[in-house]
Amino acid sequence: MTVLYLNPGAGMGGAETSLTDLLAGLRAAHPDWQLHLLSGEEGPLMEEARQLGVATHVLPLPAKLAAAGDSGLRQKKGYGELLGKLFHGAASTHSYGRMLARAAAALRPDVIHSNGLKMHILAALYLRKRGRVLWHIHDYVSWRPVARRLLRLLAGRVEGALANSDSVAEDLRAVCPSLPWVQRVYNAVDSASLLAQAPLDLDQAAQAPPPAPGTLRIGLVATYARWKGHGVYLEALARLPQAPAWRAYIVGGAIYRTAGSQYSAEELQAEIRRLGLEGRVFLTGFLSGRGAIMRALDIVVHASTKPEPFGMVVVEAMACGRAVVVSRAGGAAEIFEEGETGLGHPPGDAPELARQIETLLTDESLRRRLAERGQSYAAQHFARPRLAAELSKLYQRVP
Ligand code: GLC
Repeated sequence: MTVLYLNPGAGMGGAETSLTDLLAGLRAAHPDWQLHLLSGEEGPLMEEARQLGVATHVLPLPAKLAAAGDSGLRQKKGYGELLGKLFHGAASTHSYGRMLARAAAALRPDVIHSNGLKMHILAALYLRKRGRVLWHIHDYVSWRPVARRLLRLLAGRVEGALANSDSVAEDLRAVCPSLPWVQRVYNAVDSASLLAQAPLDLDQAAQAPPPAPGTLRIGLVATYARWKGHGVYLEALARLPQAPAWRAYIVGGAIYRTAGSQYSAEELQAEIRRLGLEGRVFLTGFLSGRGAIMRALDIVVHASTKPEPFGMVVVEAMACGRAVVVSRAGGAAEIFEEGETGLGHPPGDAPELARQIETLLTDESLRRRLAERGQSYAAQHFARPRLAAELSKLYQRVP
């Protein structure tokens, strides 16, 4: 079996973290399979893939295509702007598509597994004759005006699609009725390697003085995308009592090129000052080592203000034996058990989020219980061998 994976960029967002776990799982389950990853740029994702024994290929995306992003769509002029870019860039998109087809022809893949809107479109347009094209959908397509129309138009040209949660699968089916099939495939994490990472020194990373011994650590681990809920998180923190002693962190950074859809560090600092949280809440910037980050925290907060398609951070926190508070909507609501493996709050509800964090701060035995159960829940539902088995079945299915 030869599989060609396509990913537009090589920075590490949730979809890329998910892809590396998927590659690692398949590598272990099928050492004889040929796995190739082609991306529009060089970067950390490619480095990770190489370490896993995956052959990597960079085919630089033409500048116009690289700059046309979904994130721009959330801004006012985004829609027209993206369409303009796609059409003005049509010639370069076409020649890129043909180069992609040539690269695929040389590799002779059985399956072409695409990640990210641009690759979904290119695969459907140019790679149909080069292998069985499967889309891997990680987000709500219906939220994106341009993506929605393009995928709907092209859906009949691919073999089928994977979705990272039931909620995303349902959305995709509604948007793309001509998709032959949609299969929910939950992401996986590797608990053993997450647990093998030594906890990071978050205070050092944030250039903060060490807190008093016994201080509990709370963290929001996310990119600076606005919908990840930094504002709600900070408001919730401002409502917490001072005791038991706690310190909170925002771990992550800005990864998108478009301003407006994401916070800047300055904006977050200003919000911290406005809420009187100086000296108690710190920004660490982007850090790598998901296990090392989770294990440095006592309470992990997921605060997305919109339904989260899946939420890698929720599963990573559980796998690392950390109590997690989850914004209970979308795919994220499917992947934990309320009161058993985590505590939920309605998206955007700062008072309720504060209440759940406070419960965890004050109730050590609950924290322990959630952590223990979360760990076995993650091992049971989100382990790599399960993911590898589900994918193998899809790849080997007779079209
Ligand atoms: C996307 C989704 C996120 C999910 C990740 C991996 O980044 O927004 O919810 O965890 O993909 O599937």
